[in-house]
Amino acid sequence: MTSTTLDSTVRNAETSVPLVPLLDERWSPRSFDPTATLTDEQLTALLEAARWAPSAANSQPRRFVVGRRGSTTFDAIVKALMGFNAAWAGNSSALIVAIAETSTVEGEPRQWAEYDLGQSVAHLSVQAHHEGLHTHQMAGVDWDQITAAFDLADNLKPVTVTAVGVVDEAEKLVDALAERETAPRTRLSLDELVLVRD
Ligand SMILES: Cc1cc2nc3c(=O)[nH]c(=O)nc-3n(C[C@H](O)[C@H](O)[C@H](O)COP(=O)(O)O)c2cc1C
Repeated sequence: MTSTTLDSTVRNAETSVPLVPLLDERWSPRSFDPTATLTDEQLTALLEAARWAPSAANSQPRRFVVGRRGSTTFDAIVKALMGFNAAWAGNSSALIVAIAETSTVEGEPRQWAEYDLGQSVAHLSVQAHHEGLHTHQMAGVDWDQITAAFDLADNLKPVTVTAVGVVDEAEKLVDALAERETAPRTRLSLDELVLVRD
């Protein structure tokens, strides 16, 4: 539903009919509170949500590297962030590398690995919102650096890094990023998305 607010941390979707509030309220901030931390329980809840997402033939071709701010894992992930991602994501409470297992150990391709991985990150994001957190997925990452840092096997393809944390005010970002943070959120219309609706 439409909502107007002066709070830069609230940016609900404009929908033609009401949605489950978690979906309506989810958005991807770049301003994260640099003092916020995740509890073990919150982090476990996020990973459980990813774990219980569906996958083709229940093959579960997803793996994760998780670093909380202050850890060597977090720092290694930050180092691999490219462009403006490096300017904001270091303030998040945790960074999660989402990795697709693209083939079995026997070399059989896992055709839906990236689809299944994406679905698990979607579930993780919704759970994060339920925990009072926000997420921001990133593809602007040096994947060779991630592969080397975590010694990933050939059949493990890192696909995204998700920043998780507590949303902060847009004004705390540098100007160019603050502008993006408050720009209108847009989507294609349902008419453009749905090719056939009978
Ligand atoms: C696969 C994927 C890659 C993305 N890569 C980046 C990125 O590198 N940097 C960034 O700031 N946002 C990135 N985003 C965030 C999208 O730009 C954002 O989700 C989109 O604009 C919709 O905004 P919303 O999530 O607030 O609804 C990415 C999102 C996805 C799903």
